[in-house]
Amino acid sequence: MICVCICGGGWEWGIYSSLGQSTPNLAAFAKAKAAAYNVFKMMELKPVINANIGTQEVPTSIQGNIEFSHVEFSYPSRPDVLIFKDFSLTIPAGKTVAIVGGSGSGKSTVVSLIERFYDPNAGVLIIFVVL
Ligand SMILES: Nc1ncnc2c1ncn2[C@@H]1O[C@H](COP(=O)(O)OP(=O)(O)O)[C@@H](O)[C@H]1O
Ligand SMILES: [Mg+2]
Repeated sequence: MICVCICGGGWEWGIYSSLGQSTPNLAAFAKAKAAAYNVFKMMELKPVINANIGTQEVPTSIQGNIEFSHVEFSYPSRPDVLIFKDFSLTIPAGKTVAIVGGSGSGKSTVVSLIERFYDPNAGVLIIFVVL
C-alpha cells in the first residue's frame, strides 16, 4: 500500500498548537492515572468476609437476641484506632433499642457490625436466629 502525505506548515503548526494547549492538563492526567491505580488496586482486593460460605438459607426474620460480648474493634483502614474495647451489649429479641451518643462515638459502627460489614478483632457478636 502506498500512502502519500502532503504536509504544509499549517498542518504542523496545528499539531504543535494542540500539544501546547494540552500541556496545562498534563498534571490532571497524572492525577487521574494515580487515582485510577488506587481504584483498580481496591477492586482486586479479596473480601475477608466470604458471604458465600456456610448456609445459603436467608432468615426472613430474627427471633433471637443480638449480643455483643467483650467486642474489640478497629476499622481495617485505621487498625491503630480502637473504636470498641471490651464492649458488651444485649439487644433483646423484639425490643426497640436506641443507641445514643455523641458524633463519632460508634453508633453506626454497632449497626455495621450487626450487618456484618466487618468482623470484630476480638470478642464475639452473636445473632441468635430461629429458623
Ligand atoms: N469506614 C471507616 N473507616 C475508618 N474509621 C471510621 C469509619 N467509619 C467510622 N469511623 C470512625 O469510627 C468512629 C465511630 O464512628 P461512627 O460509628 O460513625 O460514629 P457515630 O455513628 O456515633 O457518629 C469515629 O472515630 C469515626 O471516625
Ligand atoms: Mg452515625
